[in-house]
Amino acid sequence: MVKYVIRGGKPLNGTVVISGAKNAAVGILPATLLVQGVCRIENVPDISDIRLLLQILDEMGAGIRRLSANTVEIDCSHVRDSVAPIELVRRIRASYYLIGAQLGRFGHAKVALPGGCNFGPRPIDQHIKGFEAIGATVELNNGYVCATAPENGLSGARVNLDVVSVGATMNIMIGAVLASGTTYIENAAKEPHIVDLANFLNAMGAKISGAGTDVIKIRGVRSLHGGFYSIIPDQIEAGTYMAAAAAAGGDVLIQNVIPKHMECITAKLREMGAKITEYEDAIRVVSNSRLRRANVKTLPYPGFPTDMQSQIGVCMALARGTSIITESIYDTRFRYCGELNRMGASIQVDTKVAVIDGVEKLHGCAVKACDLRAGAAMVIAGIAADGVTTVEDAHYIERGYETMIEKLRGLGADITRVETPDKEAVRSAG
Ligand code: EPU
Repeated sequence: MVKYVIRGGKPLNGTVVISGAKNAAVGILPATLLVQGVCRIENVPDISDIRLLLQILDEMGAGIRRLSANTVEIDCSHVRDSVAPIELVRRIRASYYLIGAQLGRFGHAKVALPGGCNFGPRPIDQHIKGFEAIGATVELNNGYVCATAPENGLSGARVNLDVVSVGATMNIMIGAVLASGTTYIENAAKEPHIVDLANFLNAMGAKISGAGTDVIKIRGVRSLHGGFYSIIPDQIEAGTYMAAAAAAGGDVLIQNVIPKHMECITAKLREMGAKITEYEDAIRVVSNSRLRRANVKTLPYPGFPTDMQSQIGVCMALARGTSIITESIYDTRFRYCGELNRMGASIQVDTKVAVIDGVEKLHGCAVKACDLRAGAAMVIAGIAADGVTTVEDAHYIERGYETMIEKLRGLGADITRVETPDKEAVRSAG
């Protein structure tokens, strides 16, 4: 069990360097299954979700060489058709990209239904709709998704998504790259990591255009070759440090960001009173007075990301006046509000809406990380609060934030990681 202990109440000052984008990397790594040759990938975040995916690929027979903490070479040329190990697959939601990758590479896939962060039902019907459109037969058997291409292979088609889905857009793209003919994904998601996956695949020989718009065109190619790629910086990690600086106060320079990707987060924090300067690949956040109230609604990109909802929620909990958050992507992503209320926040949640009456101060206590981003929000709250906050279940945070403790300490935060043997392990060892 991992917990973070934070002695809060001090502003943040200094520079933090952002890692590679988790949600790009979790698509790109499975997509290397399609490639005959060595992919050298830089700026891979060293986080637990990525370590798991590398372990899955390794167990499937990929050649994996870590050249440094953030550079990895993956060679899937000799991977044989195999079932990805279920006990690993079920620990990470993004293992659903193995369905598209195995289907594209071997003509069939068998992947355990994904696990991952728990905030309401997260169906994959749109992924399946896409695979079926390009000719696959998809069945759910005993907790596995089984997809099979017809004898003459997958063939390009038009897929119109019923909901804008990041996962379905990326998975269909992966599945269709080696299909014959042309696939169009209509009503596609436009997040920066969609563009990054398309750029990665194109660097390996794919013919994808339109990524970043709502229609993506994939002209099938016969094979992909090895090559070099560098993953984009993580939009949500950068936004998390922006929100931390705004909530705790201080002066923080956030380096290795693409300011264009941050626009709606920058705009919201400016509206709340933070002073934000954009540079070519950095953003500076200065916050030296109490934030102002604001409203926000989560939306697909370029709207305000659901993955930043809890972090901006902490800013609002400390702002002057009443703020409203409307969560339009997920049903139960407000569980962190109960934890924040334990720290003295005043938040009422009604299904998809949170009404936040800002308070002047939060007070440290024991809270839980309910999921990855909720955990990040608790850390921000702990840094901004008086007294000592312990964030339990911090392993969630480590799924998606590289060296968060070191990065925050570099900004002057008093934060320590404490690992204790988990109760189950103690019980079974005893
Ligand atoms: N949806 C469906 N059917 C589908 C797919 C999605 O109804 O087949 C619905 C979902 O239930 C949700 C909406 O569509 O209401 C959007 O879901 P999306 O598919 O975009 O989400 P996802 O692919 O499951 C990814 C990220 C999430 C992030 C969302 C939204 C990964 C591994 N996960 O999830 O990231 O919240 O996109 O941007 O890329 C995180 O990083 O903390 C995280 C949870």
